[in-house]
Amino acid sequence: MSAESLPVEPTLHAILEEMIEDLGLDYDGTLGRSTTLVGDLGFASVDFIHLIVETESRFGRKMGFHDLIMPGGVYVEDLALGPLADFIASRLAEPSEKTEQAAPPPAAEPETVGNSVDSGVDNGREEPVVSPADYARFLTLLPPVSAWGVPEPPPRKNRRMIFVLSSPRSGSTLLRVMLAGNPALFAPPELHLLTYPDMARRKQALANEQNAQLLTGTIRAVMQLRGVEAEVATRYLEECEAAAMPVHAFYARLLEEAGERWLIDKSPTYPMRPEFLTRMEAEFDAPLYLHLVRHPCGMIKSFEDGKMEQLVPFMRESDFSRRQLAELGWLLTNGNIRHFLENIPAERQMRVQYEALVRNPRSVMEAVCGFFRVPFEAAMLRPYDDQGSRMTDGLRMASEFSGDLKFHLHAGIEPGAADRWRRTLSEAGLGEPTRELAAALGYSLSC
Ligand code: A3P
Repeated sequence: MSAESLPVEPTLHAILEEMIEDLGLDYDGTLGRSTTLVGDLGFASVDFIHLIVETESRFGRKMGFHDLIMPGGVYVEDLALGPLADFIASRLAEPSEKTEQAAPPPAAEPETVGNSVDSGVDNGREEPVVSPADYARFLTLLPPVSAWGVPEPPPRKNRRMIFVLSSPRSGSTLLRVMLAGNPALFAPPELHLLTYPDMARRKQALANEQNAQLLTGTIRAVMQLRGVEAEVATRYLEECEAAAMPVHAFYARLLEEAGERWLIDKSPTYPMRPEFLTRMEAEFDAPLYLHLVRHPCGMIKSFEDGKMEQLVPFMRESDFSRRQLAELGWLLTNGNIRHFLENIPAERQMRVQYEALVRNPRSVMEAVCGFFRVPFEAAMLRPYDDQGSRMTDGLRMASEFSGDLKFHLHAGIEPGAADRWRRTLSEAGLGEPTRELAAALGYSLSC
C-alpha cells in the first residue's frame, strides 16, 4: 500500500496513540471524530507541530496545514479529529503538485532582491501606535548589556563566517533552511551564542521553560558535523558548559569542523543590542552580513500571532501593548542593524526582503549565492526536502527545534505569506520612526 493510500482515520489514531504514550499526555478515553486536540488531549502548540510533521511523514507528502490551523490568518483555538481527518483526506485527494513546493510566479517581477512593496490600499493616517516618545521610553526598559555577561577579548580572530541579521518573525527560518540546501554552506538552526561570554553563562540564561529550545541549535549542529546522535552531542555540549568554554572557542570548533563550508549563524536575538553586533567584527575576520528585512506590518502581525513578548521578560513585564511591542521590536532590531552596517564595507553586506524571497526565490537565492561567491544550487528552492541535512527535524522530534515552528505549517515557499497581514492590519497606524526606517529599507508605504 502506498503511503498516500493509507486509511486516514486509523493512521491518525495510531499517530495520536503513540503521542499519548510517548509524550505522557493525560488521556485514557477512546479517540473519535469529536475528540479535540486541546480540550481533550491537552495539546500545546509544540504538540501540533509534532502531529503535523508525523502525519506528513506517514502519508509521504506535505499538506499545507497552515490553511487548517490559521484559517483567515488567525490561529484556531482547538481542533476536533473529524475535521482534521477530513482536511487530510481532501489534501490527499489533490494532485500532489498543488500542495508541494511549486511557488506560482510572482504577480509582478520584483526589481531586485530589495524590491519595494506598495500596499495598494489608501487607508489615510491614523493616530500612530508608537510615537518617538514611546520608542525613547522603550529603550530605557532594555536590560543593561552586562546582564548577558561581558566577554574577554579573544586571543585572535576566528576565521570569517556569515551572519544573517533580522528582526524576529522576518522569515529567517525559511531563509536559513533554503541556505542549508547548498553544500557549500553549513547553516544550522539558531545557535544563540554571541550574546554570551561563555557556554556556562549561556546555559544559565537559557535553561528555563520559555527558552530551553534555544539551546538545541548548537546540539543539532554538532550532531550534523560529527554524524552523532542527540545524546552524544548533548554530552559534548554539557562538557563545554561545565568547562565554561568561551563562546569564541566554541565557534572556533564549529568553524574547524565545518571545513571548507561557510558557517552561517542566524540568531534573531543578536540585533537586540549594538554590542552583540560589534562582537562580530571584533571576534571574526571580515564576516559577511545578510540583512533580512520584512515589511513592519508583516512582522507586527506575525509577532502578535505568536505572542512573542511572552518569551522576553522585559517585554512581558512592560505596560506597552503587544501591538506596540511588536512595532518597537521591529524598530529596535532593524535600527541597530542599519546603524551597524553603515560602517561595514558594501562588499561585505547584502539586504534581502522577505517579500522578494517568497515571491521570487530563485532570483534572490542566485543573488545571495553571488554575494557569498558559491555556486547556486536548485535544492535551495526546495526547503522541505531532506529534513535531516536541512536540520529541520529537531533533536529527537521536530518540535525540539531552535527556530520558527510555523515553518512546518507551510507546504512550500508561500508567496501569499508576504501579504497576509493586509487582511487584518493597515500601514495607517505605523509611527513616524517606523515609517522613516521602512522607507530607508526600501518599503514605500501607501499612507
Ligand atoms: P507569519 O507568522 O506571518 O506566517 P522567523 O523564522 O524569522 O521567525 O519568521 C517567521 C515567519 O516566516 C512566519 O510568518 C512564517 O509563517 C514565515 N514562513 C515560514 N516558512 C515559510 C514558508 N515556507 N513560506 C512563507 N513564509 C514562511
